[in-house]
Amino acid sequence: MCMTHAMTAQDSLLDPKDAFTDPLHHKTYLIDGQLKAWNGAMAQVYSPIRTLVNGVEKPVLLGSAPELKEQQGLEALAAARKAYDNGRGAWPTMPAADRIAAMEKFVDRMVEQREVVVKLLMWEICKRKKDAVKEFTRTVDYLRETIVEYKKLHREGSHIHNVEGTLAQIRRGPLGVVLCLGPFNYPLNETFCVLLPAILMGNTAVFKPAKYGVLLITPLLEAFRDCFPPGVINIVFGRGRELAAPIMKSGHVDVLALIGNSKSSNALINHHPKPNRVRQVLGLEAKNPAIILPDADLDLAVNQCVSGAWSFNGQRCTALKVIYVHKYVRAEFLEKFAAATDRLRAGLPFADSDITPLPEVGKVEAMQAYVDEAVEMGAKVINAKGGETAGAIFFPAILFPVSRAAAIFREEQFGPVCPVIEFEDIEEVMADIAESDYGQQASVFSQNPEAMGKVIDQLVNQVCRVNLNASCQRGPDALPFTGRKDSAVATLSVRAALRSFSIRTLVACSEGRKDMLEGVVSGRHSTFSSMDYLL
Ligand code: G3H
Repeated sequence: MCMTHAMTAQDSLLDPKDAFTDPLHHKTYLIDGQLKAWNGAMAQVYSPIRTLVNGVEKPVLLGSAPELKEQQGLEALAAARKAYDNGRGAWPTMPAADRIAAMEKFVDRMVEQREVVVKLLMWEICKRKKDAVKEFTRTVDYLRETIVEYKKLHREGSHIHNVEGTLAQIRRGPLGVVLCLGPFNYPLNETFCVLLPAILMGNTAVFKPAKYGVLLITPLLEAFRDCFPPGVINIVFGRGRELAAPIMKSGHVDVLALIGNSKSSNALINHHPKPNRVRQVLGLEAKNPAIILPDADLDLAVNQCVSGAWSFNGQRCTALKVIYVHKYVRAEFLEKFAAATDRLRAGLPFADSDITPLPEVGKVEAMQAYVDEAVEMGAKVINAKGGETAGAIFFPAILFPVSRAAAIFREEQFGPVCPVIEFEDIEEVMADIAESDYGQQASVFSQNPEAMGKVIDQLVNQVCRVNLNASCQRGPDALPFTGRKDSAVATLSVRAALRSFSIRTLVACSEGRKDMLEGVVSGRHSTFSSMDYLL
């Protein structure tokens, strides 16, 4: 096993000369096109990064954000409802070209804030620099691609079908008011990749940023205000229980767009007096397995398991969260995996460290609890540095052998601990996957096409993406991203998101009475029934 130097507290401590000197005390929120001033309670925002103040370790204060109350949440909802106006509002009935123009303007304004948002991604959630830059760029690219796809969808709706003598023009129309709640691990990307497609389709929204990664939304508030008509996007800050629950209880939410976990989404849906009316667009938890067959290229498998399990400290819904390895190669795999893991560099995000502080309060302790319980049930931490801590850094721990009774075997750990299970017969793996509450993706490692083919056929109906000799991931963003069981509801991709936030609606008449439709179109009397071809 490769022995490396132990981490020291110094790895996680900020040099005072790099301190965050200008805390951002943000005091406004966006409702009905106005940035309203908030004079009530504020939530202090601390970084997971600590610094020494007079010899004592303290987390760095990044600023504060409003802790709005139920009343402001309901005002935001009222503004979104007014802008939608049962589908008759200016935004849902606006020509597509005008909505596109608003979105293009927003994306340009967003790009101007790149530097500050990237900096906050590093300070608030400790995303390493190159990944923070990637999150920003990927989001901008996604939004630009969304506009291209929306034009295609619109063009598809600009012609008339003749079905058995019935003429029909079919377009996708908005659903209504969207409540949008995002996660802390991709606070910009995953939120904007649902919020903005929803808006472009003609819906209106109330958006509440995540608890961690909240300040990085604030530099974009003016762009939201300036680029979209009043009430189309309303942005509120505060606790989910205080804001989201009453909004759902009102019964006036048509779509719940939530990237997070199924406990939160179920609780919110149950608050709605008519849950059947709420369209759900949900990206939820997962327990993606890596399956290493006896003929796998082990160096490749190790390399992919390191990035798959540990990138952003394992805080990705697509992370590899359990590794199954065949007994013939288990010893060699573990030795190589442990050595490669211990070579990762822990530290602060600014220098592109592989392992960085964990943003969630209590997360280090939660990771330790997974390890302790598994060890009590007979597991060992396989890598020398596994479980070392320094401030909010928890060095990745590989556990083997892991009892199926241990929590780390069943639950989504969303952090830097990974159980490894040895198998002899692939049936053991398939039985576990069938019993799991999750069904997002899987990774399979083999050099044998016949063996691979068999596993593919058994997995494709259990998960929604099988990665061959590669770790799990969401991208490229044009591919469908979804999951079975408790892992997702609806499908996301540049194109699929536009479909998830809309419904087909059509105008029809009999062939014999086409004069009316011709009159409407040629007289340009309707936005919907227009043959305008967006280029
Ligand atoms: O946290 C879930 C993300 O959608 C994962 O995306 O595979 O690109 O990291 P990623």
